[in-house]
Amino acid sequence: MAIRSYKDKLPTLAEHCYIDASSVLVGDVKCAEHVSIWPLVAARGDVNYIQIGARTNIQDGTVLHVSRVSDANPLGFPLVIGADVTVGHKCMLHGCTLGNRILVGMGAIIMDGAIVEDDVFIGAGTLVPPNKTLKSGFLYKGNPAKQARPLKESEIAFLKQSALNYIKLKDEYIEGSK
Ligand SMILES: CC(C)(COP(=O)(O)OP(=O)(O)OC[C@H]1O[C@@H](n2cnc3c(N)ncnc32)[C@H](O)[C@@H]1OP(=O)(O)O)[C@@H](O)C(=O)NCCC(=O)NCCS
Repeated sequence: MAIRSYKDKLPTLAEHCYIDASSVLVGDVKCAEHVSIWPLVAARGDVNYIQIGARTNIQDGTVLHVSRVSDANPLGFPLVIGADVTVGHKCMLHGCTLGNRILVGMGAIIMDGAIVEDDVFIGAGTLVPPNKTLKSGFLYKGNPAKQARPLKESEIAFLKQSALNYIKLKDEYIEGSK
């Protein structure tokens, strides 16, 4: 079963979400409307919470997790992902905060306390170290992530388009499963 509880917390789904049957959502995970979760995603909201914003897609094999509250870090590190975000295949998002209209390239790793502002493109395989901020309007790539260049207008437009493409795709999957 894709949706499982941890203690008294059960994942919640707003309207029109698509959750692949092979993915696993555990505990305090909130998906806003039109979120899609693709095969083999693991989202574990146990020692902190996970929020996924409207129209965001989390692609195959991605792992979402959080860090616990401690004396040194009273809020811990929840995972907060904004709206219209595309998270590519096999990414690792751990205790970080992402804004809106972001593309996280395949295989990227984003660590605790990192912040990604709105309208950012993260190249495939990029590693974003703990507590680093990626500024709005830029492409970042590499290990560790470095600012590569400002985004072109076409790339900024693609950020929103990518989210729309995935809404269409998940609607086809929902329709096909009826
Ligand atoms: C980074 C990216 C956006 C290309 O950016 P770009 O500015 O157009 O880069 P170019 O293709 O002109 O390549 C410029 C240089 O960066 C290198 N490069 C390309 N992608 C890279 C990446 N992800 N990480 C590190 N270096 C990269 C190229 O090899 C090239 O190096 P060189 O100058 O030594 O030859 C693209 O390669 C990428 O990673 N896209 C993400 C795609 C993705 O994962 N989508 C999600 C699918 S669901």
